Amino acid sequence: MAVYASFRSIGAYVPEKILSNSDLEKMVDTTDEWIVKRTGIKERHIADEHISTSDMGAMAARVAIERSGLDKSDIDLIICATVTPDYFNMPSTACIISDKIGISNVQAFDISAACSGFVYSLTIAKAFIESGMKKNVLIVGAEKFSSIVDYTDRSTCILFGDGAGAAVISATTNKSEAFVDIHASADGSYADFLVTPAPGSVHPANQKMLDEKLNFVQMKGNETFKLAVKTLTKDVVDILKNNNIKPSEIKHFIPHQANYRIIKAVGDALGMKDEQVVLTVQKYGNTSAASIPMAINDIYESGRLKEGELMLLDTFGGGLTWASALIPFAPKAK
Ligand code: UT7
Repeated sequence: MAVYASFRSIGAYVPEKILSNSDLEKMVDTTDEWIVKRTGIKERHIADEHISTSDMGAMAARVAIERSGLDKSDIDLIICATVTPDYFNMPSTACIISDKIGISNVQAFDISAACSGFVYSLTIAKAFIESGMKKNVLIVGAEKFSSIVDYTDRSTCILFGDGAGAAVISATTNKSEAFVDIHASADGSYADFLVTPAPGSVHPANQKMLDEKLNFVQMKGNETFKLAVKTLTKDVVDILKNNNIKPSEIKHFIPHQANYRIIKAVGDALGMKDEQVVLTVQKYGNTSAASIPMAINDIYESGRLKEGELMLLDTFGGGLTWASALIPFAPKAK
């Protein structure tokens, strides 16, 4: 009998501390008005100094496992998507999360696809499940983005926030619960659009790294913006067309939360109504790989996401990477 991947549960962790636009006005030459007008962001959450990416990932993972109705011993693969791992570059944050949530002796690894990391992880979970190798995959998107942000650089520090989201993806034989389609891609020729230059083999950690602030994220904002609108729109148009699905049939359009203007442009190009588009950018900012699972968790916790409803995910990030997915919500725990 054919086995399919299904989206079984969601969880998230949002740090308590809020960094508002008025806080940022005191730190750099910016205004609340500029930030809201150009990005839609009003505030973002920042993790305390002693909280790591794995701490947030573990908290989100516990919620997702609890809501899945599974025992943690049922999880047979853990994937963590992050560009702000606990350590550059070992052990993986997934290994640390596995220890923190008390799951041992299962395969665990990180993937690096920046903001596209969560949807990339969904493609991997699907492949493992549908090949019969795994049954219940825990995927985590977790970022302590504040650890790579230069809070004297107004072009980036207003954008990013911290947080984590997690999901359990399970095997099912029920085709109506299966992922409808998923697609991920990349173009490395735009690698310099969004980059954290150090530490790495190109620029190992040294005094030059600190002097030139190479350990902080750098972005060609305007160029990235234009490419994001173009790529995200084409990606969702293609996935809907390939599956013969009209935008009006999508219950929840859940785009990566980088900038309200990007989300609005893509939503308008598809003719999406406001109630179809999930928006969290105003309160979380851009949380990179955590952005989409945090947004799914938001509609779940507010009672908007119900069994069987179709989600359209769409994401874009450093690499450059992008990905989209058509997935019904398929909770089995009642
Ligand atoms: O998650 C991965 C993907 N990331 C994205 O998709 C992000 C894409 N990019 C963006 O969201 C936008 O490009 C930004 C929000 C980063 C910037 O908005 P923009 O409309 O593209 O502005 P800009 O970079 O073209 O800058 C316009 C002006 C500049 O001043 P001049 O040269 O016109 O005098 C900037 O120096 O705005 C200035 N500026 C600011 N002013 C006040 C840049 N940052 C700020 C700021 N406050 N924080």
